Amino acid sequence: MSWRVTAPGRVNLIGEHTDYNGLPVLPIAIDRGIRVDFRVVDDPVVRLDSPSSHFAPFAFQLKRPIEAAARGDWSNYVRAASRGLLEHGVRLERGIKGTVTGDVPIASGLSSSSALVVASALALLKANELTLPLLRLAALMARAERFVGLEGGGMDQAACLHGVAGHALRIAFDPLRVKPVRVPEGWRWVVASSLVRAEKSARARDAYNERARQCREALEEVRDAVGVERTPYQASSYRGLVSAGDLDGLLRHARRVLAPVLFRRFRHVVTEGRRVALAEQAMSDGDLHRFGDLMVQSHESLRDDYEVSTPELDELVTLAREAGAAGARLTGAGFGGCAVALCDDGTVARVMEALAARFYEPRLGGPPRGDMMFAAKPSGGAGVQEM
Ligand code: GLA
Repeated sequence: MSWRVTAPGRVNLIGEHTDYNGLPVLPIAIDRGIRVDFRVVDDPVVRLDSPSSHFAPFAFQLKRPIEAAARGDWSNYVRAASRGLLEHGVRLERGIKGTVTGDVPIASGLSSSSALVVASALALLKANELTLPLLRLAALMARAERFVGLEGGGMDQAACLHGVAGHALRIAFDPLRVKPVRVPEGWRWVVASSLVRAEKSARARDAYNERARQCREALEEVRDAVGVERTPYQASSYRGLVSAGDLDGLLRHARRVLAPVLFRRFRHVVTEGRRVALAEQAMSDGDLHRFGDLMVQSHESLRDDYEVSTPELDELVTLAREAGAAGARLTGAGFGGCAVALCDDGTVARVMEALAARFYEPRLGGPPRGDMMFAAKPSGGAGVQEM
């Protein structure tokens, strides 16, 4: 018997670098993803290959400890999933043999790696006739993926598993919760690659982890100061700080106690948390322009305060807006990868034409490939089917 797992990539609409700080995010699962075609084998072994020459075939035993392959090796995502399940006490007595394909561009900030992690976990669970509740699996895979060395939050794995066609997902953390939010008729999402790879397992990883560390440090310093000065904030977490409501007061306070870099990181996190709540409301109200404005503010904050944008991402955002997009921003961790633009039925073609002519043509000498720029549809989550 053979099986196919499909696991979508995601485009984060707003709420960037908030997940590992315990604040909500608002992504969509998209109609592109990773596919694993496999059959079950009686030995506890994983054997996978890919038609792409970039991805060498590999095999490993489903026995602890599962060692990491060389840095950047794609098998590490499958090893991470296997290790996560085994460490959770899941008995994996049978293995899988199969082929991985996909149409989500890799190293683009669209979570191809988390899709592979989730797909591997679903394949192994199916091979062993086991299931786990989706929320538990999402949280488990978020922890498991840290095996590759990125101190990621839980957005990507949750979006991949919980996608709902036609809906964005409000994902909240500690504990993980997912609420689908209907995307209004006629809202269109254009995804455009900056043509700069954002490798989760390489350069971007160190910059990402540095941001995570700075956020923890900023929180600790604000918390210590708040304790001393007895202000009204619930300072033990970012969520507590934001829920107090008085953001301006909080930022005035933080500016006094934090070094400038830490203050800027802090300001991004707390204002982005606020923007997610406002964006969810704008989506529920069908207010395209309010949502678009919030995306632009998010991009500016990621560019200036969080310092994860690049000149190419900034250019994509500017060009999309000039061509009539309601808003645009970098999506995913940044340091390269993609931008996402919010359009309506009337502007989507114009925005794509403008990006093709003004961003891609000068760089590529021709139009972008279909996986460099596309309109993404909010889609369903990962699943396994019999073939
Ligand atoms: C990466 C991580 C996510 C999230 C984003 C930034 O995609 O895997 O957990 O932190 O970056 O929002």
